[in-house]
Amino acid sequence: MRVGGSVQVPGDKSITHRALLLAALAPGTSRIRGALTSLDARSSARVLRQLGADVGALRTGHEVMIRGHGRFQRPTSALHCSNSGTTARLLLGLLAAHPFQAALTGDASLRRRPMRRVTEPLSLMGAIFEGRDPDRLPLVVRGGALKPLDWELPVSSAQLKSALLLAGAASGVPVGVREPAGLSRDHTERMLRALGFSVRTTDDGWIRLTPDGAFQPLDLEVPGDPSSAAFLVGAAILAEGGDLRIAGVGVNPTRTGFLSVLRRMGARVQVEGEHDRCGEPTADLIAAPATLTGTEVHPGEVPGLIDEIPLLAVLASRASGTTIFREVGELRVKESDRLALIADNLNAVGAKAVARENTLLVEGTGLAPRGNVITDGDHRIAMAFAVLGLAPGADVRVDDLACAAVSFPRFPETLQHITRRTR
Ligand code: S3P
Repeated sequence: MRVGGSVQVPGDKSITHRALLLAALAPGTSRIRGALTSLDARSSARVLRQLGADVGALRTGHEVMIRGHGRFQRPTSALHCSNSGTTARLLLGLLAAHPFQAALTGDASLRRRPMRRVTEPLSLMGAIFEGRDPDRLPLVVRGGALKPLDWELPVSSAQLKSALLLAGAASGVPVGVREPAGLSRDHTERMLRALGFSVRTTDDGWIRLTPDGAFQPLDLEVPGDPSSAAFLVGAAILAEGGDLRIAGVGVNPTRTGFLSVLRRMGARVQVEGEHDRCGEPTADLIAAPATLTGTEVHPGEVPGLIDEIPLLAVLASRASGTTIFREVGELRVKESDRLALIADNLNAVGAKAVARENTLLVEGTGLAPRGNVITDGDHRIAMAFAVLGLAPGADVRVDDLACAAVSFPRFPETLQHITRRTR
C-alpha cells in the first residue's frame, strides 16, 4: 500500500463544540466556518436549539450561522447529548449559571461515564444536581447565581476544566483550577481570552479566570482536527511508499503530543507553513512511511495525546520492541473502556498487549495483523484498527466502522482516497 496526495480533515471537534456553545450564549449572530459536522457536533447543535438558540444546519463546506439571545431559555424536554461527553460536561457548567431546571441524558456509553468530577465542584459553586446516581447521567441541574471557586482537578481534563471556567464566565465569578499532571487542551482559555476575559496561568500552575469579558458573537474559522489527522498520519507511516500532506490542521501544542511520540519512535512528520487561524496555530502535516521502534509514554505527556493513544498503540504493535503507556487509566472512562479494548483487540489480531491497572504495554510484531475487532461503538477504536488493517498482509475486520462518524464523517472514504494498493 502506498499513500499520496493532499487532503483536509474535518474541523476540530473540541473547538467546534466550544464555538457552538459560546455563540449560542452571545447576543447576536455568529458565523463559524470549517465547523465539524459529525454526530457529536450535531448533538451540541441540537441541544443548543432546545435552549433557545437559532443554530443553522451543520453542512460540510458551509458556514454555520448561530443567533444567540444572551442567555439560554428553559428547555421543555430533556437535553440528549447522545455520545458526546464534551457536550454534556461543558453544558453542565453553563447550565449551572442559569436559574432554571434542565434534564441531561445521553446514549448508553455516555450514561456510563463519570459526572461527579463536574457536578461536585459545580455544587460547591451553588448549583444543585439530582439523579438516581449522582455520578452518572441522567441528571437534573438547577443553576443560579454562583460563588467563586478554586479547585484542584482530580484528573487533567479539558472537559472538566472548561465546565468550571465556563460556569465562572457565564455567572460572572472568578474561578481558579489546577491540573494534576500535564496540561490538557486549552481551547476554552484561548476563546475566553478572545472574548476579553482574563485567563492567566500562575507560576504554581493555577489557571485563573477573572470574569471581566462578555459573550459576544463570534466570527471564526475552525482548523482541521489533529486527532482526526492522526489516523491519516498513522496510515502514511504504515504505508510502503509515497507521502501524504494533510492541509490546515490545528497544531496547538496542547494537542500535538502524538507528533513528539511518533518522532521518538522514528517517524518523519513535518509541520509546514504554521500560521494563526482565529487564535489557534494551524499548519500542514506531511507524513511518510517509517520503521518504528518502541518508546515510553510518560504520565505528563498523556493529557496532550489522550485521544491519540488508540492510534499510537496500533502503531506500537508494528514497532520493534515494547511500548509502555504510563498513567493512562483515564482511557477506561472514555466512549468505551479504551484501555481494555485496545489490549483485547491487539491480542485478537495477533499482536501482544497487556492493560494492567493504569498501564498499557504493547509488544511489536512483524506478523501481519489478522482477526476481528470489537469497537463497542467507539469511533477512535474503529479508526485506529482500520489503520492497522492497512499493514502489509493484514486482514482486520472492524465490526462497526460507521461509528467513525461521531468525529470523522467520511473516514472510510478518506482512507481509501489517500491509499493506493501496491502490486
Ligand atoms: C475534550 C477533552 C478530552 C478528550 C475529548 C474532548 C474536550 O476529554 O478526550 O475527546 O473537547 O475538552 P477529557 O477532558 O475528559 O480528557
